[in-house]
Amino acid sequence: MSDDLTVRRLKPGEPPPWELLLLADPSRPRVEVYLAAGLCCVATLAEAPPGEMRAEDAMIGVFVLAATGAHVYELMNIAVAESHQGRGWGKQLVHAAIAEARRLGAEILEVGTGNSSLQQLALYQKCGFRIVGVERDFFKEGYGAEIYENGIRCLDMIRLSLSLT
Ligand code: COA
Repeated sequence: MSDDLTVRRLKPGEPPPWELLLLADPSRPRVEVYLAAGLCCVATLAEAPPGEMRAEDAMIGVFVLAATGAHVYELMNIAVAESHQGRGWGKQLVHAAIAEARRLGAEILEVGTGNSSLQQLALYQKCGFRIVGVERDFFKEGYGAEIYENGIRCLDMIRLSLSLT
């Protein structure tokens, strides 16, 4: 497997990678709102060595950053294609999002995830985020059917924060 991951901003007019975005957030209307105001970056993987004939590089990841306050940004969405999960790309993508937030002038980067999202909670904490709060019942209404992960009902949003100063 190549380790040639390129992270770049979505080009003007380029369609957002909906399949990836909806992996992280099943509410398309919600994604549309923060996508319009935020910065979307995509990660592509060169599937063949440089110089070899290849089709478009595979788009395997996405993240969206949005300003939520003075020098405060939120990682609104982050996803790795299911076929490429569990190989370290997610961690690389979180670090790329942190670097991009710094470039945007962020002093604090926040993220929220479900109480049942154990892998995501592990990932963010391994990247330096600390738990700062809980939004109780955030996922109870408005997401259609009840969500279960790891045998746990997803009800509350766990808020995490990373200081960039
Ligand atoms: N306990 C401890 N660590 C765990 C864990 C667990 N239960 N599950 C995963 N991890 C760790 C991995 O070991 C790895 O850490 P390491 O490098 O120190 O070993 C880290 O989590 C991330 O693994 P990685 O392979 O980089 O993640 P990934 O490429 O699978 O991407 C997601 C992670 C979350 C982006 C990906 O699973 C995804 O797209 N999920 C669907 C969308 C989503 O849920 N987005 C987030 C919304 S909040």
